[in-house]
Order: sequence, then C-alpha cells, then structure tokens
Amino acid sequence: VKTRQARYPVLIGSGILSELGAHLSGFSLSRKIALISDTNVAAIYSSLVQDGLEAAGFSVNAFWVPAGEESKTLDQAAQIYTWLIENKIERRSAIVALGGGVVGDLAGFVAATFLRGVPLIHLPTSLVAQVDSSIGGKVGVNHPLGKNLIGAFYQPELVFIDTETLGTLPRRELTSGWAEVIKYGMIADDELFSLLEGEVRSLKNLETEILNKVIRTCVQIKARVVEQDEREVSGYRMILNYGHTLGHALEAATGYQRFLHGEAVAIGMEGAARIATAMGLISEDILERQRRLIEAFSLPISYSDVALEAIQEAMSVDKKVAEEVVRWVLPVRVGAVVIRKDVPGSLVEKVMAEMGKS
Ligand SMILES: NC(=O)c1ccc[n+]([C@@H]2O[C@H](COP(=O)([O-])OP(=O)(O)OC[C@H]3O[C@@H](n4cnc5c(N)ncnc54)[C@H](O)[C@@H]3O)[C@@H](O)[C@H]2O)c1
Repeated sequence: VKTRQARYPVLIGSGILSELGAHLSGFSLSRKIALISDTNVAAIYSSLVQDGLEAAGFSVNAFWVPAGEESKTLDQAAQIYTWLIENKIERRSAIVALGGGVVGDLAGFVAATFLRGVPLIHLPTSLVAQVDSSIGGKVGVNHPLGKNLIGAFYQPELVFIDTETLGTLPRRELTSGWAEVIKYGMIADDELFSLLEGEVRSLKNLETEILNKVIRTCVQIKARVVEQDEREVSGYRMILNYGHTLGHALEAATGYQRFLHGEAVAIGMEGAARIATAMGLISEDILERQRRLIEAFSLPISYSDVALEAIQEAMSVDKKVAEEVVRWVLPVRVGAVVIRKDVPGSLVEKVMAEMGKS
C-alpha cells in the first residue's frame, strides 16, 4: 500500500502466523513488542505468535481485552496506555494487533497516539479485518454517542495476513465478512464478482488457493481506493460505502444488536441495487445476479420487524452529519458505481417498505 503518509507491505499466506518474527527482523524496531489481542483470539493464537516472535529474538509483553465491540472505548485505550507505560514500551517498540477489526481499530488507535505514534503491525484474524479494516489506516474507538467518532488516520508498518486463522472464526462472523467481499466485486471488479459466483462452495469451505487469491484481490482494491483518497477528501473513498447507507441505518435502528455489520450491508446492497434499478442505472439482470450471490453466501436480502420510521430516523441522523444530503453509492454495472445525491426520498421509502415486507 502506498499513500502519502506511508508505504507498507501486506503479506498474505496460509499458516504463516508463527513466521512473523522472521519478517520483522528487516524493520528497525526495538526488541520489545507489545502484543494486543482479545480473549477469544488470544486463547487460540497468542502462543503461536508469541513463540515465533521470541524465537526471532523479541521479548513480548501481552495484553488481552475482552472480545467484542464493547472493548472499543477510550477507557479501554487508557488501560492499555497505563500498561504500556508500566512495561516501559518505547518509541521503536511495535504494537502488534492480533485479532478482528475491534482489536485492530483499538490497538491501532493506541499506536497512533501513544508517544505520538509507535510502529503498528496488523495481524488480522477475521475476514472483515483481512479484507477491510487492517488496510487503509483508519483507527479509532467508539464514543457513547456514536460509533467510531474518536480516531485517526494511522498507517501500519506491516499487515500480516494468515488466512488459515479464518478456520476458527465463528460461522456467522465469516458469513458476515463475505458481504464486504461481494461489495468489492460490485464497486470495482467484475472479474472478482464472476470468480465469486463460480467459487461459492470452495470459498465457503475456505479452500486455501482460491481464498488467498480472493483476499489478495480485495486487499488490492481497498489499497487502490485508499491510495487515491487517503483521508476521505475527494470523496472517492466513499465508494467503499456501497450498501452502507441503508445498512448502517438498519444497524442503528436495531441498536446494533440484531445484525452483524456484513448482514446489514448485504441488505443495504440489495436496497441500493433496487434503487439503481428503479432509476434506470442497472437492468433487472444485475439486481438478480447480485441477489443470487448474496444469497449463495447465506446472507440476507430483506428484513422484518424493523419499523420504517426507525430506519428513516437513523438515516436522517446520518444526513445531518453529512450536511443534509444523503449520498447514495449506486451500481451502474457489475464492477462500477456512482455517487448520487438526487435519489428521491419517496423511492427510498418505497424500496425500504418492499424489502421490509418480503
Ligand atoms: N478501520 C476500518 O477501516 C474498519 C473497517 C471495517 C470495520 N471496522 C471495525 O471493525 C470492527 C468489526 O470487526 P470484526 O468483524 O472483525 O469484529 P471483531 O473484532 O469483534 O471480531 C468478531 C468476533 O470474532 C472473534 N474472532 C476474530 N478472529 C477470530 C478467529 N480467527 N478465530 C476465532 N475467533 C475470532 C473475535 O474475538 C470476536 O468475538 C468494528 O468495530 C468496525 O467498526 C473498521
């Protein structure tokens, strides 16, 4: 990944977790490493990582946070700062973030701010983290008044992806991650989309060769988008929000309790594609193709028991944040999207009402 702020490698392989130490010897780091993970991931992978690092001559201090979104707080970050100070972690000591997006965002935020920035290494272990959150430099924590409100752009020195770790990811989390993968196909890569269509079964079974190829393609797409719009200035990075307008509103309307993020994004992509179809941007065939792929990955395309008003209310909160216009990311074909500010409210309402019923 090459941005104005930084340039860093993303290494992808299967069963490579224990080799991190050897790869780090090429970086100018102190011997001391702060390994941060969550309780679930640490129970499975921390000794592998720790032993590998120690074999390469590093000394490892480890900190586990409770698994789950609840750990992405300033309070948790403060506890980590205290621990880093007590353990005399210094400027060139790397923070290694081992886990899903929660650990990556939290440990990344700590790395960005502790001593005004210490080296960050991402070891993403969830599908969302491998194809999305570990790439691009967004780090942060939640605030009681909203998600991801406190944060920074802070690029890691290395992203080290061991795709074999997906084998222990809970099934529902894995399924949710496929939504982001389908999203990349829709926004940027028709070949990826076709590949996904042909390889549903082998991907769901996590067959190494195809899995690594797909993850690599997603990383490349995310890297390309981020390279062009590192800090969300030009608006180009917004294409990554395909499916997120309705998806985010659904999550908010249900108090972030009912849907995993990817599940909401899958429903959001169905909604955006229905809107695009109604506006004449895509044909019914493309809507159908996307729908078939979403369903093939066992993701939802509709919802029930969520009040239309609650979704609209959540969207209008987002709208206020975005200065009164909702910008929709809409497909124009498989592999390309446009950003439109002129989607009629009545059409959005109609589509949501239809999807809520079906
Ligand atoms: N920074 C970004 O650009 C960006 C992008 C997308 C999402 N995010 C953030 O990422 C977070 C969601 O990430 P997530 O979906 O990875 O959630 P998560 O980190 O909570 O992980 C999901 C669950 O799976 C467990 N887990 C992770 N890897 C595992 C493995 N290999 N084996 C067994 N269990 C494993 C975790 O302990 C957790 O219980 C949200 O906070 C979201 O805001 C950030």
